[in-house]
Amino acid sequence: MLYRTDDFPLERIPAPLLGWYREHKRDLPWRVEGSAYHTWVSEIMLQQTRVEAVKGYYTRFMQALPDVYALAACDEDKLMKLWEGLGYYSRARNLQKAARQVVEEYGGVFPSEVEALTRLAGIGTYTAGAISSIAFGMRAPAVDGNVFRVLSRLMCNATPIDEPNYRKYLEERLLAVYPPKGRDCGDFTQALMELGALVCKPTSPSCEECPLQGLCRAKASGTQTEFPVKKQKPPKKEQRLFVFLIETPNGFCVRKREKGVLKGTYEFPSVEAELGLTPEQALQRLGVASFTLCKEGLYTHIFTHIRWEMLVYHVQTEAAPFTAYPLAEIQEKVSLPTAFRQCLTLINNRE
Ligand code: ADE
Ligand code: SF4
Repeated sequence: MLYRTDDFPLERIPAPLLGWYREHKRDLPWRVEGSAYHTWVSEIMLQQTRVEAVKGYYTRFMQALPDVYALAACDEDKLMKLWEGLGYYSRARNLQKAARQVVEEYGGVFPSEVEALTRLAGIGTYTAGAISSIAFGMRAPAVDGNVFRVLSRLMCNATPIDEPNYRKYLEERLLAVYPPKGRDCGDFTQALMELGALVCKPTSPSCEECPLQGLCRAKASGTQTEFPVKKQKPPKKEQRLFVFLIETPNGFCVRKREKGVLKGTYEFPSVEAELGLTPEQALQRLGVASFTLCKEGLYTHIFTHIRWEMLVYHVQTEAAPFTAYPLAEIQEKVSLPTAFRQCLTLINNRE
């Protein structure tokens, strides 16, 4: 159900918001350069990841891959290593796909229009709006979670944020009040996000510091934390996995994940723990014939749609059909996502 709050005077927010932004914006590494490439990489990293966590990754990424050509040509393992720990690894693979599209279809120059940008891999309306307004000064809204929250509160709009037409509604309302083409467009986009991050925070908004407090209907009615409205989430799917830390004379075995969540990264060989399957049988399926097996622990790892219960075993064997590396090398050179990296602590904590 979409509620329209058309009577709210949205045209009154750009002036105070831009004034506030110029005074209070954070110095963030991606605000220095401001090119389409820099904006794009940072916006992709910032999806589902906090600003503080992204900073270091962003800087390392730009040192290793300073432009769209470098990213297009980068080897997959190196890319995954740069992304290691950020999660949602399909973002990194799409990033490279889009870089190749920009090189091949646009001669290495990003398009500036939202419509063209959304045809690149991994770029939806939010990211396209952010790049178009921030890097090119176009009138293009970018509605992320922060912006949903700020606008829902300002207008006391009770539409659930997963209502598919709500984003479109907010984009249309915003577009009508965007500043004229130029630098203010990028600042307006970022000011809305920045207000959500610094002032109109999820659980404790600092309304007394807010440049929009005089306009805000949630503040007037004391209902700030009732907005935005969220629909109920379906429960997460559960998956049980055997994870084998297989130790051979050459070190511990790893292999590349070829499908499913975390595709393209490395793992300790794992097998889904179907009902009735013993770890011994699972190891035989992996092609490990003679071994000693010892249960080490149980970890839970939560992704967006799946919850993994990882039953971790230490396996000693003379030979296994995987590449093996000494522990130090795995720690430094192999792109192990957090779910598997946490298993390393079991080995490290052992005598
Ligand atoms: N979150 C996502 N993009 C952002 C940006 N450009 N500034 C602040 N927070 C953000
Ligand atoms: Fe958010 Fe409070 Fe500002 Fe309203 S007044 S936009 S609730 S911080």
